[in-house]
Amino acid sequence: MQTRLTQLLGIRYPIIQGALQWLARAPLAGAVSAAGGLGIINAKSFTEPEDLRAEIAAVRAITDRPFAVNISMLPELAGPDPVQQWVEVCLSERVPVVETAGRSPKEFLPALKQAGIKVIHKVPAVRFGLSAQRAGVDAVTLVGFECGGHPGMDGVGSLVLIPRGADQLSVPLIAGGGVADGRGLAAALALGADGVVMGTRFLLAQEVELHPAIRRRLLAADELATTLVMGSLRNNARVLNNAAARECLELEAKGAGIEELRGVIGGGRGLGALRRGDPEDGILALGQGVGLIEEILPAAQIIERTIAQARESLARMQQALA
Ligand SMILES: Cc1cc2nc3c(=O)[nH]c(=O)nc-3n(C[C@H](O)[C@H](O)[C@H](O)COP(=O)(O)O)c2cc1C
Repeated sequence: MQTRLTQLLGIRYPIIQGALQWLARAPLAGAVSAAGGLGIINAKSFTEPEDLRAEIAAVRAITDRPFAVNISMLPELAGPDPVQQWVEVCLSERVPVVETAGRSPKEFLPALKQAGIKVIHKVPAVRFGLSAQRAGVDAVTLVGFECGGHPGMDGVGSLVLIPRGADQLSVPLIAGGGVADGRGLAAALALGADGVVMGTRFLLAQEVELHPAIRRRLLAADELATTLVMGSLRNNARVLNNAAARECLELEAKGAGIEELRGVIGGGRGLGALRRGDPEDGILALGQGVGLIEEILPAAQIIERTIAQARESLARMQQALA
């Protein structure tokens, strides 16, 4: 397959794995990249820069294909902002690709570009994509309202957002939000995207270390299993609709501020629940596409099936339109 995205990144298939905080580690990213997609590890999963450096080495031990480091730049809920340190690790390691999200990567672009690092910036609205393009990013990811994680405040789904982006952006465009199989990939290409990012689908890859109880819960989940929290902070997050999410919504309804909400949405509680295998106690980002996922598969098979199914979808479309 050839699109502007495969050409830009030197990858075989236009499929990017979502940056799953704590869960997108080297075994997953390495497997995705080795299978021809773009694997991503997430800087936010590490407290020490040296741990991120070690994880980059672990990806390189699995594959010599391109991979990315995600740098989420949303303001930290607590403690100092670690973004500068993460950028420095990426620069000194000369990682092939950096994916940024959360706020403009403008201040870091000159150094990243000088090091030959490709930068993808992920946003939930075309206007933010346009400003990232003006700042000089190499590609823009647009995530629609279906997506796991942060879909923005506009409430625009991928079916409208992606062609709006394709009309207005000139850099390669990656579509995200609800893409969980080959039908989604074919649709994204039809809407004018050059590739896709799949987060929720890769959360249920064999290489992700996810407690069996959480896996069971997610496999049983349908497209109604998510909800939006943190709207009161003007920072929507699409997450599994569980006890923690409902607790968060109740607090928000009572007018709780960030200090109070931190007890529920703060990373420590979510990570603890993930490790214990308690699907109720922690906030877990999750997209509506979870309803399309029926089994845990190795990352390479997810990619192969997605490509095969996209080709079937395109053949179907050709027949329908002939
Ligand atoms: C469990 C989980 C954790 C995520 N953590 C991050 C993150 O730390 N940084 C980030 O930029 N995106 C994060 N995302 C969003 C994905 O990178 C991607 O944009 C999104 O999952 C795409 O939509 P989809 O879930 O419909 O495939 C996360 C998604 C999930 C499901």
